[in-house]
Amino acid sequence: MKEVLILAIETSCDETACAVIKDGREILSDIIYSQIKLHSEYGGVVPEIASRKHIEKINQVTQQALDEAGVTLNDITAVAVTYGPGLVGALLVGVSFAKALAFAAGLPLIGVHHIEGHICANFIEHKELKPPFVCLVVSGGHSHLVVVKDHGVYEVIGRTRDDAAGEAFDKVARAIGLGYPGGPAIDAHAKGGNPEAIHFPRAQVDDNEYDFSFSGLKSAVLNYINGAKMKNEEINTADLAASFQKAVTDVLVGHSLKAVKDFGFNTFAIAGGVAANSSLRAEFENKCEGQGMRFYSPSPKYCTDNAVMIAWAGYYEYLKGNFSGYDLNAIPGLRLGDK
Ligand code: KG4
Ligand code: ZN
Repeated sequence: MKEVLILAIETSCDETACAVIKDGREILSDIIYSQIKLHSEYGGVVPEIASRKHIEKINQVTQQALDEAGVTLNDITAVAVTYGPGLVGALLVGVSFAKALAFAAGLPLIGVHHIEGHICANFIEHKELKPPFVCLVVSGGHSHLVVVKDHGVYEVIGRTRDDAAGEAFDKVARAIGLGYPGGPAIDAHAKGGNPEAIHFPRAQVDDNEYDFSFSGLKSAVLNYINGAKMKNEEINTADLAASFQKAVTDVLVGHSLKAVKDFGFNTFAIAGGVAANSSLRAEFENKCEGQGMRFYSPSPKYCTDNAVMIAWAGYYEYLKGNFSGYDLNAIPGLRLGDK
């Protein structure tokens, strides 16, 4: 059988990424141009700057992905692209570019859901992992507990009511002067702190025990900082980072493992940028082992945005024959399950 080469493009936020994968098993290239330095000056992603940088870099990143894979556009079987959710201007660059590429080369086009891409990051390195399982997707824009019933078939059983977990990391990091992106900075800073030093709230949402809420925790951290400032007390930022991280971890681990048990599964996976957090990964590893559950996680580099995960999701869509029309549009608020 002829090999299936998927070229995937990801531009939903601040990474311009392109990857080529073979037969849903092998990564031929994985190119990421990160805009983090540009945005960190502003303390967060500036959508206008992200779109402009994507359009500047997309051709080079794609050419590099083809070169590194040792192929040309003629060898590609289909073009996959993230079409939502994300920043609309950023998504539009990737979607327009992918459409033009597919149109010019006469290739099928596959619109990929960004969160589905994050979930599929687990399949990159764990060939034995098969649905069904429960997956916690925690990123800068999303916190979802999902039952992965089959490839491309999802049931969202919990979501955040306010801030995403990554957003809370970014806001708290900003408040203690750790810069952007906050997640990796807090992760590193917390290593020198005591997670039991300050007690922050672990919020429960009344009408859905699998939903999350992080805005109260964020406010508690800001109140703690303001209180200390007013009393002229010095803040131990390492203790604060560690205590905040522990509060997030406790809630994510508690809700997730309850869902795995309640829904009768024993396989659990994590995904999304926050899944790169070392303390969260260690806690899940530990708790899953203690409760006899199989725990999967992508390597940290596949937790944050990349095009390999989009290619993987695109490959499963390809196998099902789910192609997009040339009228594919960017959908910034696309929800999991909407197709
Ligand atoms: O998945 P991602 O790259 O982009 C979105 O789809 O949102 O996630 C980015 C988020 C940011 O909020 C970043 O601070 C967070 O993931 N993040 C982390 C870590 N690495 C990235 N949060 C906690 N610990 C980390 N090590
Ligand atoms: Zn993402």
